[in-house]
Amino acid sequence: MEKPTNRILSGVQPSGDLHLGNYLGAIKNFVSLQHKYECFFCVVDLHAITVWQDPATLAQKTREVTAAFIASGIDPKKNTLFVQSQVPQHAQLAWMFSCIARMGWLNRMTQFKDKAGKNSENVSVGLFSYPTLMAADILIYLATHVPVGEDQKQHLELTRDIAQKFNNDFKHELFPIPEPLILGEAKRVMSLRDGTKKMSKSDPSDYSRIMLTDSKENIVQKIKKAKTDPLPLPDSLEDAKARPEALNLLTIFAALNDSDTEEVISNYGGKEFSQFKNDLGELASSKLSPISDEVNKLMSDKVYLDSIIVSGKEKAISVAKPVLDKVFEILGFLHNNIPKN
Ligand code: TYM
Repeated sequence: MEKPTNRILSGVQPSGDLHLGNYLGAIKNFVSLQHKYECFFCVVDLHAITVWQDPATLAQKTREVTAAFIASGIDPKKNTLFVQSQVPQHAQLAWMFSCIARMGWLNRMTQFKDKAGKNSENVSVGLFSYPTLMAADILIYLATHVPVGEDQKQHLELTRDIAQKFNNDFKHELFPIPEPLILGEAKRVMSLRDGTKKMSKSDPSDYSRIMLTDSKENIVQKIKKAKTDPLPLPDSLEDAKARPEALNLLTIFAALNDSDTEEVISNYGGKEFSQFKNDLGELASSKLSPISDEVNKLMSDKVYLDSIIVSGKEKAISVAKPVLDKVFEILGFLHNNIPKN
């Protein structure tokens, strides 16, 4: 089997509207990586249903994430954009991986602990075994690189452990040990209400995050209201590190502007937040509004969007199926070994 050397897989859940963390931590990086790698980008609806999803909205959100990929600048002709549940090999390989991964490995996953909280007896089994499906998403394409935000790092370490254990147990070098690509200035975008908490879809406060679909006025308003401290902006990175809310806004500015945080500090250090927030509001809306306009346009052309999803599915299956067949063979399943007569 041919082994790719520069293949990317990454996924985004259609579990709500996308926010600035998804854009800066993941999608914006996908756009630049598409020129250097063979890319598979997937809308991970199987992951989304690990917590309750309203069926009517799930289909809509699945198309919206696909549209957001394209609207952000991912070329659907050059890359494979597809929906996870349409490629059955993901769920099949996830089962094999749930027999490879150890309970102790999954018990250490901090994301599960955060999401389950005190309710761990009452969350779905899928939420617990989620990282084995994520490993299958990546390894079914023999992906070598995985661009993600920092919050996914531990899941990628688990993916590497699963690949390694599979290869060792069966004495086969089938799976690559994929490298995380955690890139850009905003690897972990924090809540606008609390600089020590990750920006997330599940935060009850709407003012904690900027959505890709927010209007210009909304974006400006949310940044104006973002929590800061009473001091002027820090004038060194060292100082900024001790002030999480300030650091968060500075890194967001740098990421949106394709510069680095130190450069932003050299322009704004020692100044008042009010001017900086105005500029950041303008910058964010000038970068995000064209994307949300384009998402709206694409959403009104379902025929086009669905044609991308269908061709993505075919391309994805053509790569995933031979890998799963190989796994069956390695495991000793009868599958392809039944004589035809
Ligand atoms: P999800 O859907 O929560 O997020 C999608 C991507 O956005 C990144 N991200 C962030 N980056 C920076 N700051 C934030 N506040 C922030 N919030 C989210 C995530 O790191 C992610 O890259 N388990 C994954 C989806 C997944 C996946 C995969 C990713 C499923 N299979 C295979 C890579 C490879 C998740 O829940 O992402």
